[in-house]
Amino acid sequence: MQVLVTKDYAAMSRAAADIFKEHLKNHPQTVLGLATGSTPLGMYEWLIKYHQDGLDFSQVTTFNLDEYIGLAGDHPASYRYFMEEHLFGHVNVPKERIFIPNGMAEDPEAECRAYDELIRKLGGIDLQVLGIGVNGHIGFNEPGTPFEATTHVAELTASTREANARFFASIDEVPTHAISMGIKSIMHARRIVLLANGEHKAEAVAAAVKGPVTPDLPASVLQLHPDVTFVVDEAAGRLL
Ligand code: PGA
Repeated sequence: MQVLVTKDYAAMSRAAADIFKEHLKNHPQTVLGLATGSTPLGMYEWLIKYHQDGLDFSQVTTFNLDEYIGLAGDHPASYRYFMEEHLFGHVNVPKERIFIPNGMAEDPEAECRAYDELIRKLGGIDLQVLGIGVNGHIGFNEPGTPFEATTHVAELTASTREANARFFASIDEVPTHAISMGIKSIMHARRIVLLANGEHKAEAVAAAVKGPVTPDLPASVLQLHPDVTFVVDEAAGRLL
């Protein structure tokens, strides 16, 4: 595991975007794993700038980590909407190669199985970006989720629903469940870049990097992955 401590959010975002830019230049036909949340926003802004300067996404395939159950793609709090707004609307990834779990699927369990199967069929994820929750979650793999979990229906913890309530009119509107790539699905990615910024992430980052590997802190599983880079700002890296 490599750890890159950058000065602040802007530097973290730039460093992460540069990893993606280099990867895309060397592997234009690639499969990217993408994440939502506040953390990757700055990185997406840089990728949009790089695209305006010529970085080509025309042969890229993307898989997002997760989606709320019960929200359609045109709901402003859905992750599909987020991705359109913050990345896909501004770069040339072909629409038919953008994959996000369908939160309105009639049979969510079947949707989960189909999602993992599609990732496999399209060659697996080459480069996956992750955020980390204050409780150490990755995707919606909350503490206690078995490492063997593939894409599944996850129940959101109270703390995650509170953290995400800012995107909804009230906490009652925050969905209770999501479809999330599982830890096993994430660990299959060939390379993983985890981003974290801010003091409030420092404990989770330290536990993920140097604590015991345990389902109680889902991101700690990354210690077992052969090619992981943590890119954190000084505040999030404070306890390293
Ligand atoms: P955040 O969420 O980027 O909004 O902090 C990260 C996460 O919960 O995985």
